[in-house]
Amino acid sequence: MTAIALRQIRKTYGTLQVIHDVDIDIASGEFLVLVGPSGCGKSTLLRMIAGLEEISGGILDIGGKVVNALPPSDRDIAMVFQDYALYPHMSVRENMAFGLKMRGTADETIDRRVSHAADILKIQPFLERRPAQLSGGQRQRVAMGRAIVREPSAFLFDEPLSNLDAALRVEMRLEIAKLHNRMKATTVYVTHDQVEAMTLADRIVVLNAGRIEQIGPPLELYHRPASLFVARFIGSPTMNTLPATIAADGSGSALRLKERTLSLAGMGGQPMPASEVVFGIRPEDLVACPPEEAWFSGELAVAERLGSQTYGYVEIGEARMLTVEFPRNTPIRVGETIHVRPNMEAIHLFDTATGLRIN
Ligand SMILES: Nc1ncnc2c1ncn2[C@@H]1O[C@H](COP(=O)(O)OP(=O)(O)O)[C@@H](O)[C@H]1O
Ligand SMILES: [Mg+2]
Repeated sequence: MTAIALRQIRKTYGTLQVIHDVDIDIASGEFLVLVGPSGCGKSTLLRMIAGLEEISGGILDIGGKVVNALPPSDRDIAMVFQDYALYPHMSVRENMAFGLKMRGTADETIDRRVSHAADILKIQPFLERRPAQLSGGQRQRVAMGRAIVREPSAFLFDEPLSNLDAALRVEMRLEIAKLHNRMKATTVYVTHDQVEAMTLADRIVVLNAGRIEQIGPPLELYHRPASLFVARFIGSPTMNTLPATIAADGSGSALRLKERTLSLAGMGGQPMPASEVVFGIRPEDLVACPPEEAWFSGELAVAERLGSQTYGYVEIGEARMLTVEFPRNTPIRVGETIHVRPNMEAIHLFDTATGLRIN
């Protein structure tokens, strides 16, 4: 197994800097997910690890060796691409064997590894077919098989599931999770899909415009997002956010929302300086309550019934809308007035100017 370390890694195209001094320590056997919106630099970072993209600055260490100058073939890393990059004129078997053949691996070894990978991925019946004769999911398995037969010290995945339909995406996500539990190979997995990130990762790295916003286990990012960016990116439906101010309140401070002022005195800590903040609360942390206890009241505009829960979209005035999660099939009706209050332990505050979390 192999640890990977990125130290102050940087990428520039001419005068355009797309990766800014990124530091990540990936433990041996870890499943690390890089997540962020399109264009934030995920593929660039992954391709620098693979050796497909030159590193403009910093140090890349794989297994205790600086590999900045090593070509991809010498890094002992296998990459699975979004578009699979299979050879159309070769059979599945040949596609999987090709890389090993080029390295001069013995035929018996190739046969054994291809057969083993095909077993794991359940593609034995398709070994003699060409990629065009396979479904998207099967092609995805072949692309993974081609990586597995190399027995690399680390796997890199660049949005491997984006070309699949929703049902297949879930199925392949489970396959990848099972595969990792079995092989325990160091893995760096790129996606823009926060559900994939949450479900697969040991740790998630959230990237924003080439910079790291936060690194941590999925639930840490969910429950204690370090910034508004992370708060809005992780979690679906997304966290509710409302403008608020912190103001002096006697000897302590108070959080002032349009509809409510909350003394922060009882919540421990020092009085906070007066400032503009963003108040955040997740849909499941808004609880229906009697009108007199409500922080927010408004008309239910839309109800989404998913069976296991219901999402209510509540208009609270000034074009502001709150998403509220109701248990299972709570009988709410569009047009009725909804009253909710936040679960006090689950309130998030962010500095409006910097976007950073306030504790
Ligand atoms: N060859 C290139 N020349 C100039 N800019 C590039 C090149 N490749 C990527 N970029 C820019 O780098 C940024 C990051 O791209 P990329 O890593 O592909 O993002 P992601 O994979 O997160 O969608 C984007 O702004 C993109 O336009
Ligand atoms: Mg990309």
